[in-house]
Amino acid sequence: MFSQSMFTDLCERMLRLCKLREGESLIVLSQGEERAEYVDAFLSAGVWTVGRTPLSGNRPAVEILKSADMVVETLFLLFSDELTEIQGAGTRILTCIEPVDLLARMFPTEELKRRTDAALEALISAESLRFTNRAGTDVTYRIGIYPSKAQYGYVDQPGQWDHWPSGGMVLTCGADDGIDGRVVVDRGDIVLPFKQYVMEPIEFVIESGRITDIRGDGYQAELIRTYIADFDDADAYGLSHIGWGLDERAKWAGLATDTRGHGMELRAFCGNVLFSTGPNDVVGGPNHSSCHLDIPMRGCSVYLDDRPIIADGEVMVEAMRPSPLVTA
Ligand SMILES: [Fe+2]
Repeated sequence: MFSQSMFTDLCERMLRLCKLREGESLIVLSQGEERAEYVDAFLSAGVWTVGRTPLSGNRPAVEILKSADMVVETLFLLFSDELTEIQGAGTRILTCIEPVDLLARMFPTEELKRRTDAALEALISAESLRFTNRAGTDVTYRIGIYPSKAQYGYVDQPGQWDHWPSGGMVLTCGADDGIDGRVVVDRGDIVLPFKQYVMEPIEFVIESGRITDIRGDGYQAELIRTYIADFDDADAYGLSHIGWGLDERAKWAGLATDTRGHGMELRAFCGNVLFSTGPNDVVGGPNHSSCHLDIPMRGCSVYLDDRPIIADGEVMVEAMRPSPLVTA
């Protein structure tokens, strides 16, 4: 469907969006022959200094990456100490692992970045985030303790990390003891990394930032209870990031026929609330659990300090909404 030269063109557009200039160095990081066509496409797109350095936590490799202006990585380094260290050196890093047709369909735009920035600003200035749905969710996060973050799919600032495509997502984490209520995951919501649509409601009871009960008669509720319990880790019952997606080109129904990739489309579709469990070290919190569920939920209402942001899955704030279609 996608020829290598079309993919190269796409990568060239990406590097332009990332403002990679002549004289700057770019490293494309890969492992063995995995995603060799991604590496080829990026290397053909940029004729800058290049290294093909397999990263195995070794010092020389990390030092080389830190010396670059920009790194494209095809391994998925998220949540690794190496990523943090490389960012800390001012290197901007773009993760690129999703299927090529998805990279094209959800190609980041400056318009999406503007809407994401508006969402980020709203999130940063709020002290509480509450979200509800018709299945009975009503939970409040005390926020502002941890930083808020945005992803819009490209990197044009020193030290920035992003993931192509990430569809205008914003997120933060609640205070460690400041999340209370219940989250009822409804039919049709999605559980990642299981890559399943929920068939029966699943209820998470949350008290002082901890999941104290997981209710539901269906097999998926049982699966989640068992999956989390199997980690044998009290921190697996913590709460991770909370936020929402803004990309109108990402489809909720995508998973029905396409289970490739890491599910970025499902995390990004416009108006979804991305509820997640487990670690909060990504924003500097103390929970390092390796048990992490991402649960994109449809039809939710989101309030920041009682200001409605999303109503029944529809984004209410003009500056965050997709531009109306221009018709001839
Ligand atoms: Fe997550």
